[in-house]
Amino acid sequence: MGLYSRYIFPRLMDRFMSGAEFQQLREELLRTAHGHVLEIGLGTGLNLPHYPGSISSLRAVNPAPLLPDRLAERSAAAPFPIEVSRISAERLPYEGGMFDCVVSTWTLCTIPDPLAALREIRRVLKPDGTLLFLEHGRSEDSQIAVWQDRLNPIQNVIGCGCHLNRPIDRLITKAGLTITKLDRFTMESVPRIGGTMYRGTAVVRAPESPDAR
Ligand SMILES: C[S@@+](CC[C@H](N)C(=O)[O-])C[C@H]1O[C@@H](n2cnc3c(N)ncnc32)[C@H](O)[C@@H]1O
Repeated sequence: MGLYSRYIFPRLMDRFMSGAEFQQLREELLRTAHGHVLEIGLGTGLNLPHYPGSISSLRAVNPAPLLPDRLAERSAAAPFPIEVSRISAERLPYEGGMFDCVVSTWTLCTIPDPLAALREIRRVLKPDGTLLFLEHGRSEDSQIAVWQDRLNPIQNVIGCGCHLNRPIDRLITKAGLTITKLDRFTMESVPRIGGTMYRGTAVVRAPESPDAR
């Protein structure tokens, strides 16, 4: 890890992603987190204050330590047990069907192989478990998408592996998960190339339709 990715980027990221709009979106998404939860790409722990105190446990993975002191402070304030592992989401060391809920916020943009990570998420979710996702990605507006493609190599460097142009919904579906709710919107505090959002829920099994009975 270089100086920039180890010391400078995590501080910039933590500050930028603590903004009011980010906080509100985290709060709204995590309200429904429940049971045994896995968070992929924990980062500096910005989601921790937003989990309901009623969750049973939180396991979290992140390949590299980012601002360990800040993460330790945020973890210490949480009213539920937390276990953080320095591993990548593409290969999770958990048994299948262990988690009620998996959370991914602004992480599928950065994971080198997001499809492998999503397949692992599908494997470790309980059959009735839920993926809660809040991600930026490819715009439906072709004029913005063109710029996302053009600027992606630069973003990759300054964002330490972040991609602007991943089609998050298609990746989730390709991994065998079923999207049960999807909101597409643009963040107000972020330029559109990086603020085109995918927020929703996905499940392992498609909910049974009343007509199928
Ligand atoms: C933009 S940050 C978002 C952090 C956090 N999820 C949040 O909402 O504040 C992207 C995160 O993905 C993590 N990451 C990168 N590659 C990963 C991988 N292979 N598996 C899991 N997390 C990864 C990075 O270390 C970083 O913490």
